[in-house]
Amino acid sequence: MTIASVDRTIRLISTGTAPGSTCSPQLAAGPWEFDSGTPGYGPGSSMGDVLPTGSPRQGALPERYRTASADELDARIRSAKATLGDRVVILGHFYQRSEVLEHADFVGDSFQLAQATKSRPDAEAIVFCGVHFMAETADLLSGPDQAVILPNLAAGCSMADMADIDSVTDCWEQLEELYGTEADASGRVPVIPVTYMNSSAALKAFCGANGGIVCTSSNAETVLKWAFERGQRVLFFPDQHLGRNTAKAMGVPLERMPMWNPRKPLGGSTETELDAAQVILWHGFCSVHKRFTVDQITTARAEHPGVRVIVHPECPMAVVDAADEYGSTDYIKKAIEAAPAGSTFAIGTEINLVQRLAAEHPEHTIFCLDPVVCPCSTMYRIHSGYLAWVLEALVGDDGQPPAVLNRIEVPATDATNARVALERMLAARPPAGAPTSAAPAGAPESGTRA
Ligand code: 13P
Ligand code: SF4
Repeated sequence: MTIASVDRTIRLISTGTAPGSTCSPQLAAGPWEFDSGTPGYGPGSSMGDVLPTGSPRQGALPERYRTASADELDARIRSAKATLGDRVVILGHFYQRSEVLEHADFVGDSFQLAQATKSRPDAEAIVFCGVHFMAETADLLSGPDQAVILPNLAAGCSMADMADIDSVTDCWEQLEELYGTEADASGRVPVIPVTYMNSSAALKAFCGANGGIVCTSSNAETVLKWAFERGQRVLFFPDQHLGRNTAKAMGVPLERMPMWNPRKPLGGSTETELDAAQVILWHGFCSVHKRFTVDQITTARAEHPGVRVIVHPECPMAVVDAADEYGSTDYIKKAIEAAPAGSTFAIGTEINLVQRLAAEHPEHTIFCLDPVVCPCSTMYRIHSGYLAWVLEALVGDDGQPPAVLNRIEVPATDATNARVALERMLAARPPAGAPTSAAPAGAPESGTRA
């Protein structure tokens, strides 16, 4: 039943049955073990990743779901899903556990899942097996009567939380003081805000209200082109690496990409640096992708001559530069599917996806660049127990009436402007005549190193 379950790998390693290591032996326990403890992102996240106050906390998962075996949970999910039929649609991100994704109606990267949200307007409930910002996006793009459910409210994203509305507004006010608010002779405003999909709905609303847009890792170049047509420069948050890697590939020199650290005056940059800026990069990063190093690539090349190294653009620039290619999770999946049998891949992204691709493609050799098994500790929170819990509640379990648990609803004050920024992204096309103009909006983009 459970193909390539990362749980199984972690258990084998932590009991000494399989070689390797895990970033934390705590991962061998159910997520409910650490959801109820000290507020934090959980084992495997960076020690510096502080959970903001006010983040949703998950209540106790009923015991019957915590103690059920994997097979029992699988059967309960199947049965509840069969009872609910078309009333429910389950969406799953590539980084989810395989035993959860087996039940998903759509599996994809964050852009594809945003589109999938719109594809079943008839479903009463959208169960989102991903993280909080993805469920917020699903709520924004779905119909008003559709309920979006996040099975475990503790499934946040530490990177998304590195930019909050107060610090971004403060930054914006400082930039307005520096650059003014007047458009130049060609009608381009001083700054266009661009937020990565991995951000709160409040930040998407900020972009919508200030002429800005959302991007994902699969369309960041198209979106930056859109922004450069309308603005003299871009404020890009929260992921410095996606911003830097994408802008660098588009020819923006590094010295024209100063960093904005919200804890420092003027973001830690000088007025001269900001005057010359083309892209201002927020000081955010992903703890999972920051684990990949150039040394790991050197080792992979030494041990596997001819290996194809593909990394996610959330990796640091030196890692992206040392790789053969980079692209979104969907780009990585498609590159492997298209390769001739017998290819060898070293992949720099989350372990659940890498292990699943390896299991699905026995004709290739596929391994993770990082030998330490360490899943995204927030995606990991969506355990089958939580999925069974929310589905059985929708059915009405143990004589209880049907109930919608863990509904994610973006406040009306943010929803309108956040939708504006999302719809701009969904409509964005590469400019006419640009090399990628044949690609549909959001078609996976990537870079290939010579
Ligand atoms: P994708 O847009 O490639 O799915 O990435 C989302 C994410 O959170 C990567 O860490
Ligand atoms: Fe966030 Fe990183 Fe997890 Fe993606 S992999 S959801 S960016 S913490």
